[in-house]
Amino acid sequence: MSHVLRKEVTAKVTGKADYVDDLQMPGMWHGITVRSTIARGRIQKITFQDGVPWDEFTVVTAKDIPGKNIVSLIVEDQPYLASEMVNHMHEPILLLAHPNKYILEKARSLVKIDYERLPAIFDMDASLRADRIIWGKDNLFKHYLMEKGDVDSAWSRAAHIFEGEYATGAQEQLYIEPNGMVATANAEEGVTVRGSMQCPYYIHKSLVPLFGLPENKIRVIQQETGGAFGGKEEYPSMIAGHAALLAWKSGHPVKLIYDREEDMAATTKRHPSRTRHKTAIAEDGTLLAMDIEFVIDGGAYATLSAVVLSRGTIHAPGPYRCPNVRVRSTAVATNSPPHGAFRGFGAPQSIFALERQMDRIARGLNMPPEVFREQNFLRTGDTTATGQTVNQSLDLAGLQKRALMHADYFDKKVQFQKSNTTARIKKGIGFATFFHGAGFTGSGERYLQSVAKLRATPDGRVEILCSMTEMGQGTNTVLTQVAAETLRIPYEWVTILRPDTARVPNSGPTVASRTTMIIGRLVENASKELREKLNLPAEYSAEQFARACESHGALEITVQYQEPGAIFWDDQKYRGDAYGAYSWAVYVAEVSVDTMTGETCVDHFTALQEVGRVLHPILAAGQIEGGVLQGIGFALYEKVQFRDGAMVNNQMTNYIVPTSMDVPRISVLFEEVPYEHGALGAKGIGELPMDGPAPAILNAVEDALGVSFHAVPLLPEEVLLRLVA
Ligand code: MOS
Repeated sequence: MSHVLRKEVTAKVTGKADYVDDLQMPGMWHGITVRSTIARGRIQKITFQDGVPWDEFTVVTAKDIPGKNIVSLIVEDQPYLASEMVNHMHEPILLLAHPNKYILEKARSLVKIDYERLPAIFDMDASLRADRIIWGKDNLFKHYLMEKGDVDSAWSRAAHIFEGEYATGAQEQLYIEPNGMVATANAEEGVTVRGSMQCPYYIHKSLVPLFGLPENKIRVIQQETGGAFGGKEEYPSMIAGHAALLAWKSGHPVKLIYDREEDMAATTKRHPSRTRHKTAIAEDGTLLAMDIEFVIDGGAYATLSAVVLSRGTIHAPGPYRCPNVRVRSTAVATNSPPHGAFRGFGAPQSIFALERQMDRIARGLNMPPEVFREQNFLRTGDTTATGQTVNQSLDLAGLQKRALMHADYFDKKVQFQKSNTTARIKKGIGFATFFHGAGFTGSGERYLQSVAKLRATPDGRVEILCSMTEMGQGTNTVLTQVAAETLRIPYEWVTILRPDTARVPNSGPTVASRTTMIIGRLVENASKELREKLNLPAEYSAEQFARACESHGALEITVQYQEPGAIFWDDQKYRGDAYGAYSWAVYVAEVSVDTMTGETCVDHFTALQEVGRVLHPILAAGQIEGGVLQGIGFALYEKVQFRDGAMVNNQMTNYIVPTSMDVPRISVLFEEVPYEHGALGAKGIGELPMDGPAPAILNAVEDALGVSFHAVPLLPEEVLLRLVA
């Protein structure tokens, strides 16, 4: 059953799949958002200049909001529409709707907003030193202190101390389908929004207070979604609210679709980061202490920064055994548009720093980087930096060996060193070894209390009901496989309902590499319960299953998340079992650097990972290949250019992502160690491949040039500057 077709494949390849922009409704109007053109200031006056028939438009401002003007997520700080102050460029101020979408852009340009400008801050360090820059709150969104042992007492015992500073830039998710919503809204029927999204219940949670309506009067339905990568985790709540407010006031269904430029400029991107490492090493090369300071730029509102920071913090010390660890981490406010969720959620940032630092230390110790790492790897029975005991069977040294052998690392290293001496194009090879925790952090899954349902009909067909969204990554297929395999019935007999808050239970958000591992497990448990309810014998055929359903009649099974064993997590001290399970990986990059142009090209990439059981090898390999490619973009191409707090290269012509021309040969290898609490043995896979490419590539660049770079993206001009210096 492992190579089944995607559930939605026919709809997608025949064009039947209904994306939000395919929706048409009788009397439907179109909406547009008028945004701030300055980074910080006080709104003084709004003028609707001549040029369009303004009486035909519906105009919504903060005053028209029936409930609470706040996007409800974690911290209640971000308004749906700015009323007095604006805190970042492109902040929504008012909304327009009209039956003719082609007049909207002109109307938007005719809304003139006068401001009293206030000084804005775009730099993280400057923000930490400055007074309040966001109206009514501190510049500090969140701070964590994660400690193990006693770092300060270790320096005097160290034979070597290494310091390093590393930085990563913002990154745009660049899903194929831009954001969009269609809403209907009125007092009698309530509010219904349909659109492109990751987390229907996040939107639901925010629309309830926005309209001040009871929960059952708000309905959120996912349309076919063309990619998300974390980018449709929080901002869709904003767009859904805007579309619904326009529908509420105009009395018409309203479609609000962002074009690429607006989507890139206004919606969340990966948090830029800066990491400082100070590492103490004993005479024999053993890690004595790691002191890590990790700072991320949250932008003007909190969004999910606290959670992104949390994951970045826990992953910062990596899969290494070290008795003394301290991570001090901070999410700061700036007057940039809010940064938010993006595949990996802080871990790609802090792992980049760590895996560059590990190479730096090895070089300083005159040790091969694989030997230095191997000496310090976590092993079964060790405790991580949060004090979690590694109780699965773990052989990182073995994984690393297998990856390096497969990549022909040792021979290539020698061969490149020889050929590099005179060549214009210099080659290098480097790697990174890392882990990624799956599911919500700490007690997160316990608080979520996710629910999933199975419904069996008398003809033996089974339907899965949960709020997990398909966005191209394979949710529908994998959850269906889990049910079909557990129930021992054909894959075709199982269907999955498109998330609709009026019909599916809340299984939590589709994020954090949790879908297969956590919700898949719920589906597995529900399937087992269904088998029991049907009184099936130990061995049975699909036909017997169908007959049992027929004699039993329709039935529905509801299951709720239960913690696998005792998981202990202390939110105050940041200690304990951070994740139910980790996936482990070794990624090897082979690069060529053109010393004339400064261009770096990834020639071959080896990605080896231990992710528990692999349920669908093709989809899983696709996740890894896509993640590696997104990681290559993060490392070498994707630079968000900000000017006065706004992204200025917000088009696909000048925000450069890897294309099919830039894809190296990617060898994807899996090591399968079934995880007893995951769905049929599977662990999380979605975010992991984003973590390894950037450090592996920059380690390879250093191998090629003998020059060390500490920031991504590493563009050709930066390489050239260093080569001529
Ligand atoms: Mo998210 S970055 O979709 O966990």
